[in-house]
Amino acid sequence: MDLIMGNWKMHTNHLDAIQMIQKLFYRLDRKDYERVEVVVAPPFTSLRSAQTVIETDRMPFGLGAQNVHFEEKGAFTGEISPAMLAKLSVSYVIVGHSERRAMFGETDDVVNKKAKAVLNAGMRPVVCIGEVLEQREAGQALDVVVGQLRGSLSGISAEEAEEVVVAYEPVWAIGTGLSASTDDAAEVTDAIRAALLEMWGPEGEKTRILYGGSVNQGNIAGFMAKRTIDGALVGGASLDPDSFAGVVRYWI
Ligand code: PGA
Repeated sequence: MDLIMGNWKMHTNHLDAIQMIQKLFYRLDRKDYERVEVVVAPPFTSLRSAQTVIETDRMPFGLGAQNVHFEEKGAFTGEISPAMLAKLSVSYVIVGHSERRAMFGETDDVVNKKAKAVLNAGMRPVVCIGEVLEQREAGQALDVVVGQLRGSLSGISAEEAEEVVVAYEPVWAIGTGLSASTDDAAEVTDAIRAALLEMWGPEGEKTRILYGGSVNQGNIAGFMAKRTIDGALVGGASLDPDSFAGVVRYWI
């Protein structure tokens, strides 16, 4: 099923999170959930409240986290383990978001360890990859993205293909209002699909590929119409329940 995931980044306290989830719930209905899997990824401090409201009111939302440490436990001050997230009914964990790669030094190797740790804890990694503007202008977008894909998924087997989500997010399109053209995005997601099939054989078809970068209710339908785009990772537009609901209902 298509997947639309809201990445709230470092926005909202736990009370805001409860309100936003309730508002989103009122704006969507059964027909939406039949077509689209809807996931929200609030900050760590809101996860428990989000879990409680989702479970108490039996809302058909998945819960995501924005980051995780790859170790199970130990002396890692300030870090959160996969098991801690799994216990909060988190089912998706974003790993290697470009903001973490750029500002917190995450390499493909670290992202790979995180993706494996998330799978081992029974959750799904949303592995983010994407080129920066200079790389696109130098004609290197496909090579960069496929290189990140291979590095980030190294050692993960074809049996786990279905549990893995890949998010293609051109870094220059994130939070800038400049989304990639649907054709440019699809050229890269086609290359990602081809690389997944090469890595995993036919199982590689089961991995969902998301587009992310200034997605909103006005441009989502164009991305979703592409054969190799199975959903979206949405930042800014996910912070307003009306606009996020508009993204989820792209098909109406
Ligand atoms: P944006 O963020 O939709 O605000 O561009 C997307 C993301 O960073 O996941």
